[in-house]
Amino acid sequence: MNVIVSPEEMKRFSQACRDSGKRIGLVATMGSLHEGHLSLARSSLSECDVTVVSVFVNPCQFCPGEDLEKYPRDMEKDRALLEKEGVDVLFAPDESEMYPGGYSTFVEVKGPVSEALCGASRPGHFSGVSTVVAKLFNITSPHISYFGRKDAQQAAVIIRMVRDLDIDVDIRVMPVVRESDGLAMSSRNNYLSEEERGRASVVYRALEKGRKMAVSGETKAGKILEKVKDVIMTEKGISIDYVEMVDSLEMTPLEKLETRALIAVAVRIGQTRLIDNVIIDAPNQGGKN
Ligand code: PAJ
Repeated sequence: MNVIVSPEEMKRFSQACRDSGKRIGLVATMGSLHEGHLSLARSSLSECDVTVVSVFVNPCQFCPGEDLEKYPRDMEKDRALLEKEGVDVLFAPDESEMYPGGYSTFVEVKGPVSEALCGASRPGHFSGVSTVVAKLFNITSPHISYFGRKDAQQAAVIIRMVRDLDIDVDIRVMPVVRESDGLAMSSRNNYLSEEERGRASVVYRALEKGRKMAVSGETKAGKILEKVKDVIMTEKGISIDYVEMVDSLEMTPLEKLETRALIAVAVRIGQTRLIDNVIIDAPNQGGKN
């Protein structure tokens, strides 16, 4: 595996791949890799000639008071995991190369897609995400880039940015990878104490309850969301940031179940903020996650 830290060298590598007709897949990550990240890398490996995984803890997507300092970092472990998967390039730039002195350009996707849900409680977060992803696209020139539906709003923001800025890349949104009790894998799960970890799977049970109500014919968002909240509140020490049913591309609230509906949840367990969601199809078309 090639380990590249310099954006200039990464650009040269990508250009050489393109010149020789190779298709490049990019998986952008902040490291502390788990099966969720690796599933994206495997999709790229099966579809592209060259797979680039970037590991960069992007400071500008953390709001003041968030966990930038304590965000888990383990480059050696990440490197070994990616090497084992057969990833071609680990791109791990330094902050000073991504945001040199005088850096002053930010990409901002406006409207509900970035302002609803997590955008409301994390102002500036999605601008930080769009900015770094736009830079990573320019540096790595991918044909295809893979994102997880675990962060469904993030994927919607990137899809919108790519469309609006005419960026020539295909975006693939891949299924949520879960622990055996249903908890969505996340680098932030490391923050949970053993006891909190035990309680955290209630989020998935609540979402599943909502999805099952929907596929068995309930169409009123209010009723489904009430049930989801009730299930979450059966566990102590969990506070709800939001529980909403939204259009999965627009992030606008839905009152009735429609195609492309997403039930999205953000909760706090102790100091840890967790997000999760399920996609639901219209009644009687079956549900999937
Ligand atoms: P990070 O949280 O490291 O996630 C990197 C990618 O892995 C994202 O596309 C995310 O949705 C996906 N992912 C995380 N957990 C997953 C799971 N359980 N199942 C499937 N996919 C999962 O998201 C970011 O980093 C950053 O915002 C980034 C896009 C890299 C920009 O800095």
